[in-house]
Amino acid sequence: MLCLGFTQQLHAFCLNLKKIPALSFYMCGIIGYVGKNSATPILIDGLKRLEYRGYDSAGIAVRGKSAFTVVRRVGRVDQLAAAVAKAKPVGSLGISHTRWATHGGVTEKNTHPHVSSDGKFALVHNGVIENYQSIKKFLIEKGYTFSSETDTEALSNLIAYHYAKEPQQSGTSCFAESVRKSLLHVQGTYGIAVICLDCPMELVGARKGSPLIIGVGDEENILASDVSAFAMRTRNVVYLNDGEVVHIRPDGFTISTITQEEVAAVVQEVDWNIEDSELGTFKNFMEKEIFEQPAALENAMRGRFSDDGSTAMFGGLNLSSKELRYVDRILLCACGTAWHACLVAEYLIERYARIPVEVEYASEFRYRNAPIDKNTLVFVISQSGETIDTLAALKEAKRKGFRTLAITNSVGSSIARETDGGIYQHAGQEVGVASTKAFTSQILISAMVALYLGRLRDLSYEEGRTMVDALRSVPNHVKEILKQADYIKSIADRYAHFKDFLFLGRQSMFPIALEGALKLKEISYIHAEGYPAAEMKHGPIALICEECPSVFLVTGGEIMQKTLANIQEVKARKGPVIVIGPKHCREEIQADEYIEIPDVHDAVAPILATIPLQLLAYHSAVKLGRDVDKPRNLAKSVTVE
Ligand code: G6P
Repeated sequence: MLCLGFTQQLHAFCLNLKKIPALSFYMCGIIGYVGKNSATPILIDGLKRLEYRGYDSAGIAVRGKSAFTVVRRVGRVDQLAAAVAKAKPVGSLGISHTRWATHGGVTEKNTHPHVSSDGKFALVHNGVIENYQSIKKFLIEKGYTFSSETDTEALSNLIAYHYAKEPQQSGTSCFAESVRKSLLHVQGTYGIAVICLDCPMELVGARKGSPLIIGVGDEENILASDVSAFAMRTRNVVYLNDGEVVHIRPDGFTISTITQEEVAAVVQEVDWNIEDSELGTFKNFMEKEIFEQPAALENAMRGRFSDDGSTAMFGGLNLSSKELRYVDRILLCACGTAWHACLVAEYLIERYARIPVEVEYASEFRYRNAPIDKNTLVFVISQSGETIDTLAALKEAKRKGFRTLAITNSVGSSIARETDGGIYQHAGQEVGVASTKAFTSQILISAMVALYLGRLRDLSYEEGRTMVDALRSVPNHVKEILKQADYIKSIADRYAHFKDFLFLGRQSMFPIALEGALKLKEISYIHAEGYPAAEMKHGPIALICEECPSVFLVTGGEIMQKTLANIQEVKARKGPVIVIGPKHCREEIQADEYIEIPDVHDAVAPILATIPLQLLAYHSAVKLGRDVDKPRNLAKSVTVE
């Protein structure tokens, strides 16, 4: 975001923000276009950029002279693009959708857009219409017909029903009004884009729960789930808030709430690096993002150390040093890889700031109703800023009156707007579904938070300076480790045929072991488990055999000898051993494979140990011919409960 810091952005975003409870969501990406250009290529390009949000099926509807041309395909956007190339939809108004199915099977009939049975409206939708059965029953009685199993079709027909009831002075005025009236009857969540056959140059959108952003262009406007869909065309954006309806024409738009209050739009310029969404010379985004880590880590630190190099500084926490000194406990919440970052943060904050930390899965925390001390700070971590459970956990903590902070990579995301304060990662867009650069950047920022909080307590000036030096050296160390990519590939090539892996580490390396196992299983589909190295004896050791490699994460600190003993236990049972460990331990450790990481400060070792694990998972998946950027059944941003 240009010009604005986290605090100012939050302030801008929070204006007019209605607090509507989060429910469950479809994931998916949507994009709509109205303007002076042909809609089809813009929509297809946008869908390709949004595909990481879901990739079960995709569809497009373009308004032609007298009808919609609708093309829908099960499978990837490329399959839709091929069908669209044959159908050649012509028009300057259109909508499109890429789906991650939750409600209704992956079939062409369930693929969006959904056209109302009178043929007047086409609609794409993220969300769940919870009362769709009763709406559907009502509409069937009125003569509307349904051809899919989706809840979305109930909304397209409901809009048609309201439109038919309106006094038709001019189609133009009734369209947005019919959408608004329909939404008054909807229980659930939505991000929608709608077009009407009677209104050749109008697009209507609305949001409650799912993200929706207007891209403000030159004689054209775009509506999309996120900025990446249209950043090639415009960087001027308006973030819609929950409960708002937007009525868009090529030369402007008006926003109101569904209860008809006018909303003043705040147009913001986003700082978007187009190279982030282009592959360049890389084979896929995961590989590119692994190699972008030195830059992403530099960006996480830029301007965030004090002049004397003894502590970190954050502009957007919105908490004074005094307020932070009263924090007795920190509760960290997240999902997936970000949850692993929380586990590392727990270790770092407890060790360097001496503040007790608890880590919760956001999905558990939101329903667990756990007792929390009053001076607890609730801290969430989310790359996308849109993960539904993390967002709900944040809202739940706020509802109970706790101060909240967030680490997120997504400017203007729901979590960025909801939190009391926070820290942007500035890692650049992460497209690969498996998180890489966002994870290491989250750990680095966590280490900076530990340093900052520690320096407000007992961490000395000298210790602070040592830690700052260690943090500053991380990007160069990561560059050095990345030079071992070919060597790690050769290991992956030799081991990718194994069906089970164990990942083992102690203390701050335990969450890295969990992350290594997750990375491997999510993109290569090889079964892998992460475990505390010493705990292996209480169960997983039963798996050890010649066919089950163990990946050990070794730090050079005081527990090194303990981990070496665990390695011997595996070797004694003929288990193949891959070690990621410091250079100086190489001779001492009898491993089948040894990947060196530099001897560094304990606070940054987890970041460095992560890089070989990412490369190991990546090359194993490539060796097995997997779709690395779009692993089966997954989506980048999980917006369903
Ligand atoms: C999905 C992604 C993971 C990510 C998790 C949490 O499962 O595949 O890579 O870690 O969501 O996402 P967030 O955006 O909240 O960090």
